[in-house]
Amino acid sequence: MKKSNHEMTRRAFLGNAALTGAITAGAMTASRRAAAANDKLGVGVIGAGGRGNSHLQALKHIQDNDKTIEIRAVCDVYRPRLDRAAERYNAKGYMDHRELLADPAVDVVTIATPDHHHGYQALDAIRAGKDVYCEKPVTHWRQFELTKELAKVAADSGRVFQCGTQGMSDAAWIQMGKLVREGLIGRPIHAECGFFRVGDWGEAGMPIDDPDAKPGPDLNWEAFLGDSPKRDFDVSRFFRWRMYEDYAGGPCTDLFPHTLTPVMHIMNSGLPSMAVATGGMFRYTEREVPDTFNMLIDFPEKYTIAVLGTQGNDYQATEVRGSAARIPVIRGWEGALTVRNNEIEFIPAHGSDKKAHTIPIEKGENLLHFFQEFIECCRNGDPNTSSPMQLAYHVQTALIMSYLSLREGKVARFDHEKEMIVL
Ligand SMILES: NC(=O)c1ccc[n+]([C@@H]2O[C@H](COP(=O)([O-])OP(=O)(O)OC[C@H]3O[C@@H](n4cnc5c(N)ncnc54)[C@H](O)[C@@H]3O)[C@@H](O)[C@H]2O)c1
Repeated sequence: MKKSNHEMTRRAFLGNAALTGAITAGAMTASRRAAAANDKLGVGVIGAGGRGNSHLQALKHIQDNDKTIEIRAVCDVYRPRLDRAAERYNAKGYMDHRELLADPAVDVVTIATPDHHHGYQALDAIRAGKDVYCEKPVTHWRQFELTKELAKVAADSGRVFQCGTQGMSDAAWIQMGKLVREGLIGRPIHAECGFFRVGDWGEAGMPIDDPDAKPGPDLNWEAFLGDSPKRDFDVSRFFRWRMYEDYAGGPCTDLFPHTLTPVMHIMNSGLPSMAVATGGMFRYTEREVPDTFNMLIDFPEKYTIAVLGTQGNDYQATEVRGSAARIPVIRGWEGALTVRNNEIEFIPAHGSDKKAHTIPIEKGENLLHFFQEFIECCRNGDPNTSSPMQLAYHVQTALIMSYLSLREGKVARFDHEKEMIVL
């Protein structure tokens, strides 16, 4: 895992003492918003690319309709995107996220940068006293130690944290989790889920805004690299970072958070005991990350979660809710739970006395509601968001173990005493 190297690079990356000081000062001035129910929360968006603009659209809706927030700042290391977003949303533009965090007008940040920045920027934001909405995956696959640190700092800080797995706004998963905790399926033993789509998010899917773009005052390549290996500028790496292992991990880390997070919530899962994975670049070869990924994770409570997926075919085999994530099947000693015809379905196991029945789903997935719920948590200082950091830590650990399993050709185990991955 080359932890010490990354941590040294991290220190160099953060090296500017004045800015780090400004972040700490921000932590002291930021205050809990419950006291000022009529005040609007100031929001800053870090990363003004595809997803950052989706955040801004949802936030603008809340700004105009709920009138509980104001978009005050945006940040991007690429000036054309930064200027466009700053102008469109009438926000202050920053090229450096630490400057945005030092802005006392910002109470809440959303993070939509490439994966390898999420953990560091979320940590910086919490330490600056901000509440955080952070895109999935919560960290990059080589950053287990950072993930662990973020989970601890988030828990100790009491700040509001929501991971960007918007599927958690679907009541189906919350209701199924409650049914499992109440004992409907008996002891959980197995769950299956998956994610299938056609298309190479990377080569064809990510736009190169300017093929002649070069590092300079309007494009900060060093800041893009962050803790990843130092490399000369490459326009493809900058705009199509999803193709490269230094910044991304293929379906395992890009897509599976959407399907594994609900399932680990339903199963009430903590940290796994072991993981194995198969897959590779089976269709799209001009990339470094797999397009097909299958993983099996075991947990200390004696059950398995299987996640299957490919970007080479989009047939789901079961229904889909919300996104391209396949509906999970959750199996226990006494029965199974899934979703059929827009209802939760209970299927008794062979020999069980329990009766088959269905349960209506209270509400479906909705990105706007997901953001609204987050903002309400920020206003009330309520850390119990729909997709909290503790769940993201457990999910990301399972994903990292699986990614390392495929990469190293080994079974990944988790040492619960030392809280570390062993390969
Ligand atoms: N929840 C979802 O459904 C969903 C959907 C799409 C993307 N995402 C996540 O959002 C993140 C961004 O994806 P995207 O498709 O918007 O990528 P993108 O490349 O379109 O946008 C990323 C932006 O971050 C900027 N950036 C890079 N390094 C930066 C830094 N150090 N500080 C500030 N800005 C920096 C880039 O210039 C770029 O404009 C990814 O982690 C992805 O997994 C989530």
